[in-house]
Formats: sequence, C-alpha cells, structure tokens
Amino acid sequence: MMNTAVIGLQFGDEGKGKIVDYLAQEHDIVARFSGGSNAGHTVIYNGEKIKFHLIPSGVLSGKIGVLGNGMVIDLEKLESEIKLLRDHGINSKILISSRAQVVTPLHRIADANDDEILKIGTTKQGIGPAYVAKYRRIGIHVADLFDSTAILKKLRYFASMFGIDENLDKIAEEMYDMGKRYREMIVDTEVWLNNAISGGMNVLFEGSQGTFLDVDFGTYPYVTSSATTIGGILTGLGVPPSSIHRIVGVAKAYTTRVGGGPFPTELMGDDGETLRRRGGEYGATTGRPRRVGNLDLVLLRYATMINGVTEMVITKADILAGLEKLKVATEYRCDGQIYRYPPINIEKCKPVYEEMGGWKDIYDDALEIFLQKIEKETLARVSMVSYSPERDAIIHR
Ligand code: IMP
Repeated sequence: MMNTAVIGLQFGDEGKGKIVDYLAQEHDIVARFSGGSNAGHTVIYNGEKIKFHLIPSGVLSGKIGVLGNGMVIDLEKLESEIKLLRDHGINSKILISSRAQVVTPLHRIADANDDEILKIGTTKQGIGPAYVAKYRRIGIHVADLFDSTAILKKLRYFASMFGIDENLDKIAEEMYDMGKRYREMIVDTEVWLNNAISGGMNVLFEGSQGTFLDVDFGTYPYVTSSATTIGGILTGLGVPPSSIHRIVGVAKAYTTRVGGGPFPTELMGDDGETLRRRGGEYGATTGRPRRVGNLDLVLLRYATMINGVTEMVITKADILAGLEKLKVATEYRCDGQIYRYPPINIEKCKPVYEEMGGWKDIYDDALEIFLQKIEKETLARVSMVSYSPERDAIIHR
C-alpha cells in the first residue's frame, strides 16, 4: 500500500497538475485538502488542454476524486467542471465532503472589496472570505445545502459582516436547488477515505498552491488563506499522519509568483520578459502574467524541511535549455547577515547567487550537475525531471 502526497515547494504553479495526473496512475483515489477555485491546473488530455480549478487533476485517469473538508467550494464552478469532464466521456466518481465550506457570489464580492484595500492581489474567487466565515463559525457547510433556513441565516450573517447588499433570498434559493443536484456526491469523506485506506486502496493527496502561499509558512500577508503544506492533509481530509507514506515536492527549475508579495530572486526587465514568454508564464485562473525569477534554493531548503519531502520533482527543465549560464540563490543576505533559511522579514533579503553552466538540451551533463546542486543544498533526492507538458515527458533518475 502506498499513499502519496504531492506538495508545491514554491509559490504555486510548479506543474503539480501534470505530476498528479502522472502519479495518479498508481493510485485509486485523488483527494484535495485545501483551497478552492483559486487553484488552476492545466492538463493535456488526448492532445487537448483542459483546465481544472476544483476537480483533482487525477480524475482524468478515471480515478475517484475527493474534495475534502479543508476546501472551500464554489458549487457553480464545480458544476461546469463536472460537465466538462462528462463532455469528454470521463465518468469518474466524485465525492464532496459534507464538512467542506461553500463559496457563494457574496464571498466573491467580499474578496474583491477586501483586495481593493489589502492589495494582496488575490484571485477574487472568494477564498479568503470563505475561510474568514469558517473561522468566525458562520460558514456554510456543504451539508447545510439541504436546509434552506440555515443557508439564509448564514448568508445574512455574512452579508452584514462584510456590508454587502444583495438579494439573499434568491441566492439561498439557488443554493438550495443546487444542493439537490449534488446530493449523491456528498458524503462524510473523512470516514469514507479512512475506510478506503483500511481496505487497501491507494490515495494520492493533491496539494494546491505552494509552500510560500501557506497561511503560516508563506510570505504573510501575501499568502492564500489555507494550509497548503503537509499538515493541511491531516486537517483537510481527516486522515492520520501514518497514512502518508511518500511526500513528493514539486518545484520548477526557476521561480514564479502571481500576485503581490516579496520575491527575492525576481528578474525584472528584458530578462524577466524573455523567461516569462519562453515558459508561457500566465496564470491559469486569472490569466495574469506571472512574475518570474531565478531558482531559489533558500526557499526550496525551507520547503523541503517543512513538508518532510522524501523526493523532489523538477519541472520545466526544458524552458532553461540553451542558456549559457544561470544563477541559483544558495543563501540570503538580510540586514548584513547571512541566512540559509528565509527569515520572516524576507522582504529585507537579497539573494547570494552561485553561477552554473546552462544545458543545451535535457540530456546535457550540465542539467545533471544542476540537479545534484539542488540535492546537495536541500538534502532531498530529485527523482524525476519533467521537460514538457505531455504526461509521459518525464525522466526518472
Ligand atoms: P487567494 O488564494 O485568491 O486569496 O490569493 C492569495 C494569493 O495567492 C495571491 O497572490 C494569488 O495570486 C495567490 N494564489 C492563489 N492560488 C494560486 C495558485 O493556484 N497559483 C498561484 N498563485 C495562487
């Protein structure tokens, strides 16, 4: 039996979707534990690009998809994704936790209003306000969808808390109707999942976003509102630590970030523009150009430690091919002091770079030297390298 966690080691968009899709082939179930439609993964299916925001990527391989209690779910968005799936002839089973939180149009309005002031650069998907409601204990559980009075009561609390004036009766009615359409898929997933594991099924725990968007370990306040790191699996799915056997950390060969916040190795000007264009670095959810930069081993060292990464996958190695030289950050200098792990006031830090030779193509020895450098600095083994979006474009080491 082997249950695997796939966790992003940077700021999200590391290419987890493809790795999950690839690894899903050895698993029976793919379960998401945090976030909502702020995530976006593009997967190539029969030569066609498909974008998902809520549905775990692995369902394309016919696996059972679980949306865990740690998630915040926009049911309208989910409905259109399920339709997309069915239109492609994929009839994978999808289960939704009765304890997950529901995102409504009110949450999206609150998110947009908040971001005007806070300037985090959120995806405006209502994620932050949905978690605020959860922790204020006025959130709408998926299980509440069967109770029109509970929906309306909670919408009223929420609307007054965020000062929103909308037709709440109409929204409540729509949600109640939608709940009926989802009835079959809603279960106590924590019980279902633990039983499935005891019964010998293999689960892949699919992380969303990345370590530095984690609400505790990320570059707060420029983070998302959930636990995107390893601990999120326990609270976001209700499985014990002993159920996680293999922890696969995914990192790009360089760094990208969407939205505001510190980014020590960011490349500006022409260098940044060239890398952005070569890597096709535009957000899957918002279409925003991603900020791009050099590989940051200070961040990877920390992410490997926090998540207990047992093996690493490096993605987009092809994008850097053809460069004569490249730089990787191995330490930071912050207020005159050297750091090997990112301090909390990371915005004060400048990267200390080491220069490395570039690779002509993915078979060049220089790529192997680059991978060995990552291993030496992070102490994690790099087990796979991905070099194109195609499912099988992976080198095993
Ligand atoms: P929120 O998750 O929409 O609240 O956005 C908070 C921050 O996380 C913003 O900087 C977003 O750009 C970023 N973010 C959220 N989800 C993703 C993702 O899947 N990939 C990359 N960045 C993300």
